[in-house]
Amino acid sequence: MSRVALVTGGTRGIGAEISRELKTAGRTVIASYAGNDAAAQAFHEETGIRVMKFDVADFKQCETAVQQITAEFGPITVLVNNAGITRDATLAKMTREMWDAVVDTNLGGCFNLCKLTFDGMRTEKFGRIVNIGSINGQAGQYGQVNYAAAKSGIHGFTKALAQEGARFGITVNAIAPGYVDTDMVRAVPADVLQKIIARIPMGRLGHADDIARGVVFLTADEADFITGSTLSINGGQHMY
Ligand code: CAA
Repeated sequence: MSRVALVTGGTRGIGAEISRELKTAGRTVIASYAGNDAAAQAFHEETGIRVMKFDVADFKQCETAVQQITAEFGPITVLVNNAGITRDATLAKMTREMWDAVVDTNLGGCFNLCKLTFDGMRTEKFGRIVNIGSINGQAGQYGQVNYAAAKSGIHGFTKALAQEGARFGITVNAIAPGYVDTDMVRAVPADVLQKIIARIPMGRLGHADDIARGVVFLTADEADFITGSTLSINGGQHMY
């Protein structure tokens, strides 16, 4: 039977490629999104992947979505916490709202969905959770105290939950992407981005499928001895 995979933020950018590749790997994929209906519809029409609109930062909305997916497809046993936003500014200019939005979505969303799917995975005695962190959670980044803190939190969360999941056959790993060619990275001012690319030994931005292949690897049924690890995929920009 095809395992059910939920990819948050799974209709655009890195998440869309993760959804596609998990489908190719034989999973029944549900891709969540928060706001962009047109992009989600286009993604659904192109791939046939079921899309579902809810805010990962909102526990109640997550609960309703998980119940609906479980009723329709069965328990979610592959979870990819990919949904993330940026609200970049130096600390001097960052508002409390910018802090809350990033922490609630990028880290709170990971908590919400792990919390709501973990029991089901325990019952199945199988689970594969991949949390998408970031090079900027490992190394920090000027203008991103909110994002760096949330992504760094993802890495700690992953190692803690990995210890809790191991005896139930649930693996929990993180991927720390570097700068990948997506709308999020294209929003970085061009001059700043050029300087960042100049520091990437591979000399280019990552592609979404560079990350998606890592997710397929970590979520494979056979990957049952890999847990609590962080896979850095960043073109050599930061060696952790
Ligand atoms: N290190 C040191 N100083 C820096 C700096 C850096 N990396 N970047 C900027 N500065 C300095 C500037 O030189 C400037 O100094 P002066 O006033 O002396 O000239 C000062 O800081 C202010 O810089 P800005 O004019 O750029 O300030 P701003 O308020 O207009 O913008 C910013 C600040 C929003 C942080 C902007 O620089 C920015 O967007 N930077 C990119 C941040 C970034 O990399 N975000 C990643 C998004 S993608 C992502 O997050 C995905 C992922 O996981 C990798």
